[in-house]
Amino acid sequence: MARRELKGLRAIVTGASGGIGRAVALELARAGVRCILFARRAERLDEVCQQAEQLGSKASVLVGDVTDAEARKACLEFAERELSGLDLLVNNAGISASGEFAGESSEVQRKIFEVNFFAAAEFTREAIPLLRQGRTPMIVNVGSILGHRGIPYTSAYCASKFAITGWSQSLRAELSTEGIDVLLVSPGTTESELADNLVEQRIKLPWSGMRGVTAEYVAEATVKAISRGGHEIVPNWRGWWMLFAHRLSPALVDSVMAKLARKANR
Ligand SMILES: NC(=O)c1ccc[n+]([C@@H]2O[C@H](COP(=O)([O-])OP(=O)(O)OC[C@H]3O[C@@H](n4cnc5c(N)ncnc54)[C@H](OP(=O)(O)O)[C@@H]3O)[C@@H](O)[C@H]2O)c1
Repeated sequence: MARRELKGLRAIVTGASGGIGRAVALELARAGVRCILFARRAERLDEVCQQAEQLGSKASVLVGDVTDAEARKACLEFAERELSGLDLLVNNAGISASGEFAGESSEVQRKIFEVNFFAAAEFTREAIPLLRQGRTPMIVNVGSILGHRGIPYTSAYCASKFAITGWSQSLRAELSTEGIDVLLVSPGTTESELADNLVEQRIKLPWSGMRGVTAEYVAEATVKAISRGGHEIVPNWRGWWMLFAHRLSPALVDSVMAKLARKANR
């Protein structure tokens, strides 16, 4: 994995209109990276664009849905035409839902997979030709600690993030032969709008009020890992402990999860 000088690199950040994506884009801008901010809400992207420019980096807004092939194509064409290439692709856009698996519609499951997994996979496949010509290129996939350990009542989200983990690891090995790095970022609970924008909420999760780390904390760790050429990071100490406990004793963590499931159902 290459150490990289960030100044002057060109990046696409999906889901840059809020939360972790916005914070990563601004942290990249602070380091002198030229960002294309990609999401659906134009006004929010314009605000982030102005904030990036106040930090001294030029940024551009591309309004679109990551599941729309035409919008992804327009974004890559913009990078090629206006920035003469691409060095970083940050697959961050994501959505979630809550409710028991047995009552979940296949539409909700598929929607979560479309945004969280298939859009990232398609965008990456489409971006690889540009990244091959990039400077110290890297793909950054924002997964989750729930891509390493499942929890109750968010099964589709967990499954989509497990898909991100496995795919990132496969991709890292394959693309190492071409000098393209792959960083997997697995945040734990982070202050953002994820819980406000659920596709569907059929249950109130008992841990939903738990205070997380800030999106800026996740962004700082992410940009440091991009710079040093990291493979995988878990920018959340509580999340790190949960994964450590799961490695030591999956059965113990299963029993804690079963207790949480009973609590949520009451
Ligand atoms: N917050 C957490 O506790 C946490 C923990 C672990 C992992 N994560 C992951 O972190 C990533 C960012 O989430 P967040 O917490 O920052 O949530 P957030 O505040 O809700 O931000 C989600 C971003 O994704 C964008 N987005 C959603 N659907 C999209 C679509 N179809 N096309 C384009 N953009 C779309 C949203 O923009 P528009 O609505 O403007 O399109 C928004 O900018 C996600 O992958 C999430 O799974 C979050």
